[in-house]
Amino acid sequence: MMSFFLHRTLFADPMLATRGEGIYLHTADGRKIIDGSGGAAVACLGHGHPRINAAIAEQLSKVAYVHTVLFTNQAAEELAEILVGHEPGGLSHAYFCSSGSEGNEAAIKLARQYFLEIGQPQRTRFIARRQGYHGNTLGALSAGGNMMRRAPYAPILSGCSDSRSTFTGGSSSSGAAPATSRATAELPSIMVQCRSTSTAGQGSCPDSTARSDASTAARPGPPRSPSGKAGA
Ligand SMILES: Cc1ncc(COP(=O)(O)O)c(C=O)c1O
Repeated sequence: MMSFFLHRTLFADPMLATRGEGIYLHTADGRKIIDGSGGAAVACLGHGHPRINAAIAEQLSKVAYVHTVLFTNQAAEELAEILVGHEPGGLSHAYFCSSGSEGNEAAIKLARQYFLEIGQPQRTRFIARRQGYHGNTLGALSAGGNMMRRAPYAPILSGCSDSRSTFTGGSSSSGAAPATSRATAELPSIMVQCRSTSTAGQGSCPDSTARSDASTAARPGPPRSPSGKAGA
Protein backbone atom coordinates (compact mmCIF):
# COMPACT_ATOMS: atom_id res chain seq x y z
CA MET A 1 0.00 0.00 0.00
CA MET A 2 1.46 3.39 -1.00
CA SER A 3 1.46 5.56 2.08
CA PHE A 4 2.60 9.09 2.88
CA PHE A 5 2.37 8.28 6.59
CA LEU A 6 5.78 7.55 8.16
CA HIS A 7 5.15 4.23 9.85
CA ARG A 8 7.33 2.76 12.56
CA THR A 9 9.00 0.38 10.18
CA LEU A 10 9.68 0.80 6.49
CA PHE A 11 9.75 -2.93 5.92
CA ALA A 12 6.16 -3.95 6.53
CA ASP A 13 2.77 -2.33 6.28
CA PRO A 14 0.88 -2.10 9.54
CA MET A 15 -2.63 -3.51 9.63
CA LEU A 16 -5.33 -1.02 8.69
CA ALA A 17 -7.69 -0.75 11.64
CA THR A 18 -11.14 0.21 10.43
CA ARG A 19 -13.26 -0.18 13.53
CA GLY A 20 -13.00 -0.69 17.27
CA GLU A 21 -15.60 -2.33 19.43
CA GLY A 22 -15.00 -3.02 23.12
CA ILE A 23 -11.86 -5.16 23.33
CA TYR A 24 -11.84 -5.85 19.58
CA LEU A 25 -10.23 -4.17 16.60
CA HIS A 26 -11.43 -4.94 13.09
CA THR A 27 -9.04 -4.68 10.17
CA ALA A 28 -9.61 -3.84 6.53
CA ASP A 29 -8.79 -7.41 5.52
CA GLY A 30 -11.56 -8.78 7.70
CA ARG A 31 -9.69 -9.81 10.82
CA LYS A 32 -11.09 -9.33 14.32
CA ILE A 33 -8.28 -8.91 16.84
CA ILE A 34 -8.37 -8.70 20.62
CA ASP A 35 -6.65 -5.46 21.62
CA GLY A 36 -5.27 -7.14 24.70
CA SER A 37 -2.56 -4.54 25.18
CA GLY A 38 -4.83 -1.49 25.23
CA GLY A 39 -2.95 0.50 22.60
CA ALA A 40 0.62 0.99 23.86
CA ALA A 41 -0.37 -0.82 27.07
CA VAL A 42 -1.81 2.19 28.82
CA ALA A 43 -5.27 2.77 27.32
CA CYS A 44 -7.89 1.01 29.38
CA LEU A 45 -11.15 2.36 27.97
CA GLY A 46 -11.67 -0.04 25.11
CA HIS A 47 -13.07 0.98 21.76
CA GLY A 48 -16.26 2.79 20.87
CA HIS A 49 -17.99 2.76 24.25
CA PRO A 50 -21.31 4.59 23.77
CA ARG A 51 -20.96 6.65 26.97
CA ILE A 52 -17.47 7.79 26.05
CA ASN A 53 -18.52 8.57 22.47
CA ALA A 54 -21.48 10.58 23.78
CA ALA A 55 -19.30 12.51 26.24
CA ILE A 56 -16.81 13.38 23.49
CA ALA A 57 -19.59 14.45 21.13
CA GLU A 58 -21.23 16.54 23.84
CA GLN A 59 -17.99 18.37 24.62
CA LEU A 60 -17.27 18.92 20.92
CA SER A 61 -20.67 20.48 20.54
CA LYS A 62 -19.76 22.98 23.29
CA VAL A 63 -16.11 23.84 22.69
CA ALA A 64 -13.36 21.68 21.21
CA TYR A 65 -10.23 23.47 22.33
CA VAL A 66 -9.15 26.53 24.23
CA HIS A 67 -5.64 27.57 25.08
CA THR A 68 -4.81 27.55 28.75
CA VAL A 69 -3.07 30.90 28.64
CA LEU A 70 -6.46 32.58 28.63
CA PHE A 71 -9.15 29.99 29.25
CA THR A 72 -10.24 27.03 31.27
CA ASN A 73 -13.24 24.81 30.60
CA GLN A 74 -15.74 22.93 32.68
CA ALA A 75 -14.67 19.44 31.61
CA ALA A 76 -11.04 20.06 32.59
CA GLU A 77 -12.09 21.56 35.90
CA GLU A 78 -14.30 18.56 36.68
CA LEU A 79 -11.64 16.04 35.71
CA ALA A 80 -9.03 17.80 37.85
CA GLU A 81 -11.37 17.62 40.81
CA ILE A 82 -12.01 13.92 40.26
CA LEU A 83 -8.28 13.25 40.08
CA VAL A 84 -6.93 15.36 42.93
CA GLY A 85 -9.93 16.92 44.67
CA HIS A 86 -9.21 14.69 47.68
CA GLU A 87 -5.48 15.51 47.49
CA PRO A 88 -4.18 11.93 47.19
CA GLY A 89 -0.66 11.72 48.61
CA GLY A 90 -0.62 15.50 48.90
CA LEU A 91 -1.20 16.04 45.16
CA SER A 92 -3.20 19.22 44.97
CA HIS A 93 -3.39 20.19 41.27
CA ALA A 94 -3.66 18.37 37.95
CA TYR A 95 -1.92 19.48 34.76
CA PHE A 96 -3.22 18.03 31.52
CA CYS A 97 -1.06 16.97 28.59
CA SER A 98 -1.64 15.04 25.40
CA SER A 99 0.81 12.20 25.99
CA GLY A 100 2.97 10.50 28.56
CA SER A 101 6.12 12.00 27.08
CA GLU A 102 4.69 15.48 27.28
CA GLY A 103 3.57 14.82 30.86
CA ASN A 104 7.09 13.86 31.86
CA GLU A 105 8.56 16.89 30.10
CA ALA A 106 6.14 19.01 32.11
CA ALA A 107 7.05 17.21 35.37
CA ILE A 108 10.76 17.74 34.73
CA LYS A 109 10.20 21.43 34.02
CA LEU A 110 7.91 21.88 37.03
CA ALA A 111 10.54 20.31 39.30
CA ARG A 112 13.13 22.69 37.84
CA GLN A 113 10.88 25.70 38.22
CA TYR A 114 10.05 24.79 41.81
CA PHE A 115 13.69 24.63 42.89
CA LEU A 116 14.57 27.79 40.99
CA GLU A 117 11.81 29.63 42.76
CA ILE A 118 12.85 28.46 46.21
CA GLY A 119 16.43 29.52 45.54
CA GLN A 120 18.06 26.10 44.92
CA PRO A 121 19.08 26.33 41.23
CA GLN A 122 21.87 23.75 41.72
CA ARG A 123 19.34 20.92 41.69
CA THR A 124 19.55 19.71 38.14
CA ARG A 125 19.80 15.92 38.30
CA PHE A 126 17.16 13.21 38.18
CA ILE A 127 17.42 9.59 39.17
CA ALA A 128 15.70 7.07 36.96
CA ARG A 129 15.60 3.32 37.21
CA ARG A 130 17.41 1.34 34.58
CA GLN A 131 14.86 0.13 32.05
CA GLY A 132 12.55 2.87 33.26
CA TYR A 133 10.88 4.46 30.25
CA HIS A 134 9.45 7.93 30.49
CA GLY A 135 8.78 8.78 26.87
CA ASN A 136 10.33 9.39 23.48
CA THR A 137 10.99 13.12 23.67
CA LEU A 138 14.57 14.14 24.38
CA GLY A 139 13.88 15.35 27.92
CA ALA A 140 11.95 12.24 28.89
CA LEU A 141 14.60 10.01 27.29
CA SER A 142 17.30 11.97 29.14
CA ALA A 143 15.58 11.29 32.43
CA GLY A 144 14.94 7.63 31.67
CA GLY A 145 17.06 4.53 32.02
CA ASN A 146 15.99 2.48 29.00
CA MET A 147 19.42 1.87 27.51
CA MET A 148 18.22 0.49 24.18
CA ARG A 149 16.01 3.47 23.50
CA ARG A 150 18.61 5.97 24.73
CA ALA A 151 21.53 4.57 22.76
CA PRO A 152 20.95 6.16 19.31
CA TYR A 153 20.39 9.59 20.86
CA ALA A 154 22.98 9.46 23.64
CA PRO A 155 25.12 12.30 22.21
CA ILE A 156 22.20 14.71 22.20
CA LEU A 157 20.59 13.75 25.52
CA SER A 158 21.09 16.04 28.45
CA GLY A 159 23.25 14.56 31.18
CA CYS A 160 20.67 15.27 33.84
CA SER A 161 19.91 11.73 34.90
CA ASP A 162 21.52 8.72 36.45
CA SER A 163 19.72 5.46 36.02
CA ARG A 164 19.95 2.65 38.50
CA SER A 165 19.47 -0.98 37.81
CA THR A 166 16.08 -2.29 38.72
CA PHE A 167 17.65 -5.56 39.80
CA THR A 168 21.12 -4.82 41.18
CA GLY A 169 20.97 -1.18 42.12
CA GLY A 170 24.03 -0.50 39.98
CA SER A 171 24.52 2.84 38.31
CA SER A 172 24.66 3.21 34.56
CA SER A 173 26.96 6.21 34.59
CA SER A 174 30.40 5.00 33.64
CA GLY A 175 33.07 6.34 35.91
CA ALA A 176 30.62 8.40 37.90
CA ALA A 177 29.85 7.86 41.53
CA PRO A 178 26.45 6.30 42.14
CA ALA A 179 23.83 8.98 42.12
CA THR A 180 22.65 8.21 45.59
CA SER A 181 26.08 8.91 46.99
CA ARG A 182 26.23 12.30 45.33
CA ALA A 183 25.20 15.37 47.20
CA THR A 184 21.45 15.09 47.51
CA ALA A 185 21.45 18.83 47.02
CA GLU A 186 21.75 18.20 43.29
CA LEU A 187 18.61 16.13 43.02
CA PRO A 188 15.34 17.80 42.15
CA SER A 189 13.49 14.58 41.65
CA ILE A 190 13.46 10.83 41.32
CA MET A 191 11.59 9.71 38.25
CA VAL A 192 8.94 7.30 39.43
CA GLN A 193 5.82 6.87 37.40
CA CYS A 194 2.61 5.26 38.36
CA ARG A 195 0.72 4.03 35.35
CA SER A 196 -1.55 1.07 35.51
CA THR A 197 0.55 -0.83 33.04
CA SER A 198 3.97 0.57 32.48
CA THR A 199 5.87 -0.36 29.35
CA ALA A 200 9.08 -0.09 31.35
CA GLY A 201 9.64 -3.82 31.30
CA GLN A 202 9.43 -4.17 27.57
CA GLY A 203 12.88 -2.94 26.73
CA SER A 204 14.10 -6.39 25.89
CA CYS A 205 11.09 -7.81 24.12
CA PRO A 206 11.98 -10.87 22.11
CA ASP A 207 11.83 -10.69 18.33
CA SER A 208 8.48 -12.43 18.43
CA THR A 209 6.90 -9.08 19.25
CA ALA A 210 7.66 -8.01 15.70
CA ARG A 211 5.38 -10.71 14.30
CA SER A 212 1.78 -9.86 13.72
CA ASP A 213 -0.27 -12.65 15.14
CA ALA A 214 -3.85 -12.42 14.06
CA SER A 215 -5.09 -14.75 16.74
CA THR A 216 -3.82 -12.69 19.65
CA ALA A 217 -3.61 -9.09 20.64
CA ALA A 218 -1.51 -6.53 18.87
CA ARG A 219 1.17 -6.86 21.48
CA PRO A 220 3.10 -3.91 22.85
CA GLY A 221 6.77 -3.77 22.14
CA PRO A 222 9.49 -1.22 21.85
CA PRO A 223 8.94 1.17 18.97
CA ARG A 224 11.10 -0.04 16.10
CA SER A 225 13.18 1.93 13.69
CA PRO A 226 13.71 0.75 10.12
CA SER A 227 16.64 -1.32 11.41
CA GLY A 228 14.19 -3.01 13.74
CA LYS A 229 16.20 -1.94 16.78
CA ALA A 230 15.73 1.24 18.70
CA GLY A 231 12.60 3.30 18.54
CA ALA A 232 11.59 6.87 18.12
C1 LIG B 1 5.67 4.50 31.92
C2 LIG B 1 5.54 5.32 30.65
N1 LIG B 1 5.90 6.61 30.67
C3 LIG B 1 5.81 7.38 29.57
C4 LIG B 1 5.35 6.85 28.38
C5 LIG B 1 5.28 7.75 27.16
O1 LIG B 1 3.97 7.99 26.85
P1 LIG B 1 3.55 8.46 25.38
O2 LIG B 1 3.85 7.31 24.47
O3 LIG B 1 2.08 8.72 25.55
O4 LIG B 1 4.32 9.69 25.04
C6 LIG B 1 4.95 5.53 28.31
C7 LIG B 1 4.45 4.98 27.03
O5 LIG B 1 4.28 3.83 26.82
C8 LIG B 1 5.05 4.73 29.48
O6 LIG B 1 4.69 3.45 29.46
